Amino acid sequence: MGEPAKSIARERDFQSAVLTLRELTAADMEAVNGTIVNHLQSSVKMIPEVAGHLINAGGKRLRPVVTLAAARAFGYDGPHHISLAAAVELIHGATLLHDDVVDASRLRRGLETANVVWGNKESVLVGDFLFSRSFELMVKTGSLKVLQILSRASCVIAEGEVLQLATQQNTKSTFDMYLDVVEAKTAELFAAAAQAGAVVAGAGDVQEDAFRQYGLNLGIAYQLVDDALDYSGNEKALGKSVGDDFREGKITLPVVYAIESARNNEEAAFWERTIGETAQSETDLSHAMQLMHRDNTLGRTLDCARSYADKALNCLNKLPDNEMTAALAELADLSISRAS
Ligand code: IPE
Ligand code: IPE
Ligand code: MG
Ligand code: MG
Repeated sequence: MGEPAKSIARERDFQSAVLTLRELTAADMEAVNGTIVNHLQSSVKMIPEVAGHLINAGGKRLRPVVTLAAARAFGYDGPHHISLAAAVELIHGATLLHDDVVDASRLRRGLETANVVWGNKESVLVGDFLFSRSFELMVKTGSLKVLQILSRASCVIAEGEVLQLATQQNTKSTFDMYLDVVEAKTAELFAAAAQAGAVVAGAGDVQEDAFRQYGLNLGIAYQLVDDALDYSGNEKALGKSVGDDFREGKITLPVVYAIESARNNEEAAFWERTIGETAQSETDLSHAMQLMHRDNTLGRTLDCARSYADKALNCLNKLPDNEMTAALAELADLSISRAS
């Protein structure tokens, strides 16, 4: 048999959607990466070392790419989207440094986390440095509205992380409590990234809000998928450890569904011990995964994520129809099937 017909389209996946967006914004992204690297500089040697460890490890650069695409969707051709997108990625980087301390995570972007290599104190302080640098960059856009959107986002992310501490290990946590955490810790930055991109481009209120809602819903879908991948993903592809959420007793949607689905007192006690008390033995994670598989709690989490991705897609109807918004639509559509 010969080769398959050339006309068979290669199946598109999340990575190819990200790649398309990065290609569409390639020159801008190069400038953004240069701006980020310049803003890691400090006379205190450890700062560029710790920050560079995270930043140079890559990451998908999803949020800045969304910012650039939102600005370009309106034909924006000025300089401010570059500083803005760099500010957005620096906020993200700061939250990752802090988050890995809070979650005691050991792997990020395929490398040992900064808290493992240097320590918690170093990670927290360098995270603060990145936050501060991001504010310097926001100011460069000359837009008070951008400053307002991103400073609010920084507050809301911190609120989300603190709120999560309150739901953690609380086996009575509900879907609504979980959603509040997800909106704050993750979706708010996607929302701000998209909205602020529209703001620098001078879009009107309706379109600015449509971009905000696009980002918010994409961000919720993104975190829901992330929470499913924490039980089902591949560490190499994800570049972070699987099972971290379970070890920390995090109440994510797969767990909310699993607790609801407990069929007897023994199963309820299992969740109370492992999540409520984080008293875990070596076999508990695989038993939790079995129960989740039986009750399809990961599938149900992805169904829920799909409903938010669809909301994100609907928001794009109010926006100009061009290659940028088409690529953003594909990103939302394929975010549900991502493996990395
Ligand atoms: C990680 O974000 C934090 C979450 C919201 C799940 P990303 O998955 O965008 O991480 P990087 O930037 O690609 O490493
Ligand atoms: C994601 O936190 C949001 C922030 C980093 C603020 P998570 O703890 O859920 O994400 P990962 O799994 O560490 O990337
Ligand atoms: Mg984490
Ligand atoms: Mg966390």
